Amino acid sequence: MPRCLPLAFLAAPLLLLALPAQSSGPAASVHDGEAVIIAHRGASGHAPEHTLPAYDRAVEMGAHFLEPDLQMTRDGVLVAFHDATLDRTARGPSEFCTGPVRERTLAEIRECDVGSWFNERFPDRAHPSFEGLSVVTLSELFARYGDRVRWYPETKQPDQNPGMEEALLALLHRHGLRDAAVERGHVLIQSFDPESLRRLRTLDPELPLVQLLSRQAMAGRTPAEVLEAVAGYAQGVGPNHSLIDAGFMAAARQNGLFVHPWTVNDPVVMDRLLELGVDGIFTDFPDLLADRISALGR
Ligand code: G3P
Ligand code: CA
Repeated sequence: MPRCLPLAFLAAPLLLLALPAQSSGPAASVHDGEAVIIAHRGASGHAPEHTLPAYDRAVEMGAHFLEPDLQMTRDGVLVAFHDATLDRTARGPSEFCTGPVRERTLAEIRECDVGSWFNERFPDRAHPSFEGLSVVTLSELFARYGDRVRWYPETKQPDQNPGMEEALLALLHRHGLRDAAVERGHVLIQSFDPESLRRLRTLDPELPLVQLLSRQAMAGRTPAEVLEAVAGYAQGVGPNHSLIDAGFMAAARQNGLFVHPWTVNDPVVMDRLLELGVDGIFTDFPDLLADRISALGR
């Protein structure tokens, strides 16, 4: 696994004077010159997304960060789940395993199998052990891996899940990870929704935050415009990888932001991004990205 140091800072003091003021938290950088490997929904190219086998494989493959997307159940439990609805990846009784996650209790969702869909969709990567896998809670993930790994939770549909940010912060405290976030950048919190990040910043101004950027979010605006605004409340950006070019990277550096594009499974695209100097990449295949980083010395 590439070596990563505790919080390093982005630039020399004289350069920092030229940058916009970071209005929250440390100038978090989790990098020591090598790109970080962010296991997208776990090693979700190898095992069903957001299941323990996917997270275990990500750790085995040397991923630096595990990425749980967060949904909240009707009884207020944060679970690692990408979609707002259960339909794509859950199998089981329709009264429990279809429809919005937020309309089901954790006990109901536990009735669902979230592994079989992977075997159906990817027969070449299927494994019998994936059948019957359960949804995992964020608390269970934190308890299983703790600070042996780094964390990259994403608040999903936060406008429809009020209290999500408070619940996440409470879990960081309960599992002793809040200081890992603030002092070492070992927890980065991401969202497409700037309001969710601002709520987090209000709750705890020191948390390192990452603004996700879709092509739609950039429409009609230059990278310089967008990234200057983001630098007012976040330490990094997570752009769709197709947004990255030399101009984007220059604007990010000008604004003191680290850059972690998503979601890249093609080694040719990985190489292009690494050559452009991105600070890390979200991938379903942490082993493949580790190989590219090693090959390029990035
Ligand atoms: O969070 C980075 C990337 O995962 C964003 O896309 O839809 O996979 O959460 P999505
Ligand atoms: Ca995500």
